[in-house]
Amino acid sequence: MTKTLLLLPGDGIGPEVIDEVRRVAGALWPQLVLEEAPFGGAAIDAEGAPISDATVARAKAVDAVLMGAVGGPRWAGVARAIRPEAGLLRLRQDMAVFANLRPALCFESLADASPLKREIVAGLDIMIVRELTGGVYFGQPRGIVDIGDGEKRAVDTQVYTSAEIRRIARVAFELARKRGGRVHSAEKSNVMETGVLWREVVSAVHAAEYPDVTLEHILADNCAMQLVKAPRQFDVIVTDNLFGDLLSDEAAMLTGSIGLLPSAALGEAGKPGLYEPVHGSAPDIAGQGLANPLAAILSFEMALRLSLDRADLADRLAAALKAALDGGARTRDLGGTLGTRAMGDAVLAKL
Ligand code: NAD
Ligand code: IPM
Ligand code: MN
Repeated sequence: MTKTLLLLPGDGIGPEVIDEVRRVAGALWPQLVLEEAPFGGAAIDAEGAPISDATVARAKAVDAVLMGAVGGPRWAGVARAIRPEAGLLRLRQDMAVFANLRPALCFESLADASPLKREIVAGLDIMIVRELTGGVYFGQPRGIVDIGDGEKRAVDTQVYTSAEIRRIARVAFELARKRGGRVHSAEKSNVMETGVLWREVVSAVHAAEYPDVTLEHILADNCAMQLVKAPRQFDVIVTDNLFGDLLSDEAAMLTGSIGLLPSAALGEAGKPGLYEPVHGSAPDIAGQGLANPLAAILSFEMALRLSLDRADLADRLAAALKAALDGGARTRDLGGTLGTRAMGDAVLAKL
């Protein structure tokens, strides 16, 4: 059966890393139909908005969507509602991909690439489950208002319903059952109302449906500390949109580089997933062919597994990527000298 993957290269290093995905996909599965659309700053320049209605409609109709990255200093002055990042938030919301799976895996041959000691990160295999369509990213009211005397007041609203917490908790418990059987739920119930509800609902889902899984509640600040101190104590971490954003960038450095972390954003079963490297557009290295394409390639690997029904090809790709790393292939972020294209070549050679 024909499958279609919509590519949204975006800005900065986005197009550079998506180019490598295109080459890998061509070698691995020539029949996979690849479409492409403007996204982020590139779409602002081409179409006047960070994502068009037509692109959103396409994203909901294909089998999976894979983005590069959005944003950059060029669009820093653009009104918030039409900034590149707003296009990504709209896409997540319109695709209703509420569960963002961000695996942090330490490849054996990269255990020395992390700034943390080998004995702390070797064998690491964590899954961060980040709530992606709620919380402070979307809560109302929000905005900046004048309050007189030249002073201003800014408001963001953190808001969660029990239904939103229940469905993300289920995703985490289901994943834990197939992995190490342990879930840490991270919130700030010591200071936030949303944290209190989060803990209550996660506990209730656990007791009613997943008593076989081990659940531990952890305050999000302690979780950040424990991730550096003893990261292998974690199996699955479930947390809200904002904490998940922060904790996943932190977890990236346990694996060696943010250039290694893929993610899958999933909604209802059977609906297309949105696959995103965790990193951004990296303006400091964009346009130089230096970016690590592995986060994007690993995001494609997750798409093969979770949306495109080709776990067989995902296994082959994962093995090729591991073999390339075992063979010493390293981009600069991993302490090596390879550029983006050469890293793509190294994976292709093993395929
Ligand atoms: P960033 O992730 O773009 O970069 C942080 C640092 O990591 C930089 O030093 C960069 O060079 C490095 N880095 C990132 N990806 C890399 C890769 N693949 N290979 C090698 N090095 C890599 O974060 P930032 O600088 O805070 O944000 C830049 C822009 O990207 C902002 O506009 C931000 O909003 C946007 N952003 C977008 C996404 C996304 O599209 N999913 C994610 C994060 C940030
Ligand atoms: C991420 C990014 C995005 C987020 C931005 C670009 C909207 O940091 O995917 O981690 O905060 O969710
Ligand atoms: Mn982020």
